[in-house]
Amino acid sequence: MAHDNLKNAKRARNDEFYTQYADIQKEIEAYLEYDADVFRGKVVYCNCDDPFESNFFRYFILNFKKLGLKQLITTSYKPSPVANTQLELYGDDNTLPKAKGRPKLTANKFIINEVHDIDGGSEFNLKSVARKLKANKNNEWTPLEGDGDFRSAECIELLKQSDIVVTNPPFSLFKEYVAQLVEYGKKFLIIGNTNSITYLEIFPLIRNNKIWLGCTNFNVGMFFKVPDDWERFHHIDDETGWKIARVSTSCWYTNLDHGRRHEPLNLMTMAENLKYSKNLKGKSAYDRYFNYDAIDVGTYKEIPSDYDGVMGVPVTFLDKYNPDQFEIVGNSDDGSMMRELGVRALGHKFISAYRARGGTGHYSPGMRMLGLLEPQARIIFKRLLIRHRTKPTKLEKR
Ligand SMILES: C[S@@+](CC[C@H](N)C(=O)[O-])C[C@H]1O[C@@H](n2cnc3c(N)ncnc32)[C@H](O)[C@@H]1O
Repeated sequence: MAHDNLKNAKRARNDEFYTQYADIQKEIEAYLEYDADVFRGKVVYCNCDDPFESNFFRYFILNFKKLGLKQLITTSYKPSPVANTQLELYGDDNTLPKAKGRPKLTANKFIINEVHDIDGGSEFNLKSVARKLKANKNNEWTPLEGDGDFRSAECIELLKQSDIVVTNPPFSLFKEYVAQLVEYGKKFLIIGNTNSITYLEIFPLIRNNKIWLGCTNFNVGMFFKVPDDWERFHHIDDETGWKIARVSTSCWYTNLDHGRRHEPLNLMTMAENLKYSKNLKGKSAYDRYFNYDAIDVGTYKEIPSDYDGVMGVPVTFLDKYNPDQFEIVGNSDDGSMMRELGVRALGHKFISAYRARGGTGHYSPGMRMLGLLEPQARIIFKRLLIRHRTKPTKLEKR
């Protein structure tokens, strides 16, 4: 029991990573470049966001008019250790009017239909937003009945009313979070971890082009504000004094279209790769799997332009994935998918050779991992199996 409580507390703490404004702005602007009207007339819902601390709320409020939003809905989550405790985004401003029952220790729902200065003027800034929220003249916020869990009936009702969900959801609930968005057929732009790509629940959506990665490059990593007692932080922000951590495995997941996923990869032929590519120089052919009819390609740059069969590529390929150019066939992390694709079990011959060259790990002859026998017996971790689209099918603009 005590162990469970500790585990839950740790999980909850790991969920308290707050997204930086610049990361949100950079990502959203890439969609606007592709389609300036992507948010026009839309209801955006941030369902893991306390306006008093969320930069998603801040971004959408400050850009409400520019984006042409119809409405912004935000719900906060009561059990959040940081929620409702500070007016962080608005600074420590004593000139603000005293709150008329400021949203404290309850989960709240915030519905913003227009932005303007509290006195009706068209000019506004964050201070006017803070004033507006504090005064709560038009019931911009009301307490929720429950704790603001995105799975609760009242939050699902708000989800149904919305067009696009944008947030950084709790990582520990990522699978459930995505499943709910898919169930309700919502457009979304959310932050997750690259490790989720090969999850049993997530990968089929990626393979079927129902979800893809966002625009911010994979290897950039994002910076997050973390709780004060967080020890593994990257730096302390000069201006705010907040602890900031860098998470190199963070990425955006979305079903909103963007230009980067339609940029084709420029590739060399197999012969050119064998002649010029760093990792292939001196080889007469690409490595082939011992137990599956496909070639192994160590980096997306070495994908041959003229190979028609299946190719195993690192998961990072997804960052360059253009669905008009490639088809995703499978994911080596999923044993049953490997079985369906006809990947054979490693077998005794492979495992003996693997052990003989000092290979360790819990591999047995019955496992369906991708293996290379020549030039040395080696298990290949996490590969996406892809192939060129033979007849490029232009996917409809979503
Ligand atoms: C990774 S943080 C991100 C917060 C905010 N979206 C941002 O990016 O600044 C996830 C947030 O979800 C909240 N949360 C945790 N479980 C939740 C749930 N079941 N429903 C709604 N929110 C939840 C956490 O308290 C936390 O504030």
